[in-house]
Amino acid sequence: MAGTAAQVTPAAPPGTMGGSGDAQFLRVDRLTKRFGEVAAVDDVSIAIRKGEIFALLGSSGCGKSTLLRMLAGFETPTSGGIYLEGKEISALRPFERPINMMFQSYALFPHLTVWENVAFGLKRHGQPADRVKAQVERMLGLVQLKPYAQRKPHQLSGGQQQRVALARSLALEPRLLLLDEPLGALDRKLRAQTQFELTSIIKSVGVTCVLVTHDQEEAMTMADRIAIMSAGSFVQVGAPREIYETPGSRFVADFIGTVNLFEGALVEDEPDHCVIETSVGRFYIGHGITGVKGQRLSVALRPEKIELSTAAPADTSSNCLQGRVVECAYFGATSLYRVMLSDGSRLQVSVPNTERHGEVIKVGSDVFATCAADSLVVLVS
Ligand SMILES: Nc1ncnc2c1ncn2[C@@H]1O[C@H](COP(=O)(O)OP(=O)(O)OP(=O)(O)O)[C@@H](O)[C@H]1O
Ligand SMILES: [Mg+2]
Repeated sequence: MAGTAAQVTPAAPPGTMGGSGDAQFLRVDRLTKRFGEVAAVDDVSIAIRKGEIFALLGSSGCGKSTLLRMLAGFETPTSGGIYLEGKEISALRPFERPINMMFQSYALFPHLTVWENVAFGLKRHGQPADRVKAQVERMLGLVQLKPYAQRKPHQLSGGQQQRVALARSLALEPRLLLLDEPLGALDRKLRAQTQFELTSIIKSVGVTCVLVTHDQEEAMTMADRIAIMSAGSFVQVGAPREIYETPGSRFVADFIGTVNLFEGALVEDEPDHCVIETSVGRFYIGHGITGVKGQRLSVALRPEKIELSTAAPADTSSNCLQGRVVECAYFGATSLYRVMLSDGSRLQVSVPNTERHGEVIKVGSDVFATCAADSLVVLVS
């Protein structure tokens, strides 16, 4: 079974690097936060490596901000530990931690210029004027806002304000940067563009970053690894591609991207393949699952892994669904088809529009939908 739940990392002896230094730059060990009866964060363990961008992704109320706030020190854990570079930091107050958190609404000081906003933290830490000046210049260069230094926040676009907030967060050179919905205030197009900018700035500084978002595209674009959260727990942790291509459960498959899910029973299970019988046909999958014959399972299939054709393929005994196109949406680069299958269910198929005069499949066309044995994912839970 591909995809694993959150790894539990063994606790390191206090005050040590835990033996593997950079790989365990930030280590969260069995962290729990209860608000009365509710476990907002429920027994979460993870090791985050130095320089990694790690995203917490999940729907509203699943505990993302609470976990981030515990890392920052704004919330006291009910139990469990937080280790930064091997040192337990759970008992430290926020300002004692080498961490900076950028909030959901990144409130810049409206009466201060861009330059003064970035300088604010440095001055408050009593840094000498020449050091403040040099660092502010460096940060404004980094986020490409030098020409805007004397403007007030209201004279900037949303994306520019966002970059000022990032410059302010990075000015004190935190060991760990925490971002809570950093792009939440931006519109869709600006968001997409800013995701790339933000990632390249964070990577160029090399700061380790934990990012909270409920936008899967944002997590996929920005993060090295993603933790999918539900009800205070990590459901799956992995690289974006891993989470998308080999989800470990129906929940994750359904949560990330669009997916066709089929319920069925295991009828064949060999080391090199298995066959699952569903109400719309047989699926031949290119690996065994060491399951039990007759076991109920789900098969997940992404819309872009399906080929549509009006002509019958040579072999229709497995991985070939017949149906009729009931809806079609043209998106330019791709078209999305909804195909009604024999049991009345709808199959979603995404087809790239590579040829201008390719075969035209229309609403009402009878079609064959085929897929390769290795594009199907078997889900037991
Ligand atoms: N101070 C608090 N007192 C009581 N309950 C709280 C408190 N803070 C958070 N909670 C509860 O803990 C759960 C997790 O909240 P949290 O803010 O971490 O969610 P989230 O994943 O960040 O959601 P969103 O995407 O909406 O920001 C929710 O059920 C919330 O109501
Ligand atoms: Mg939140």
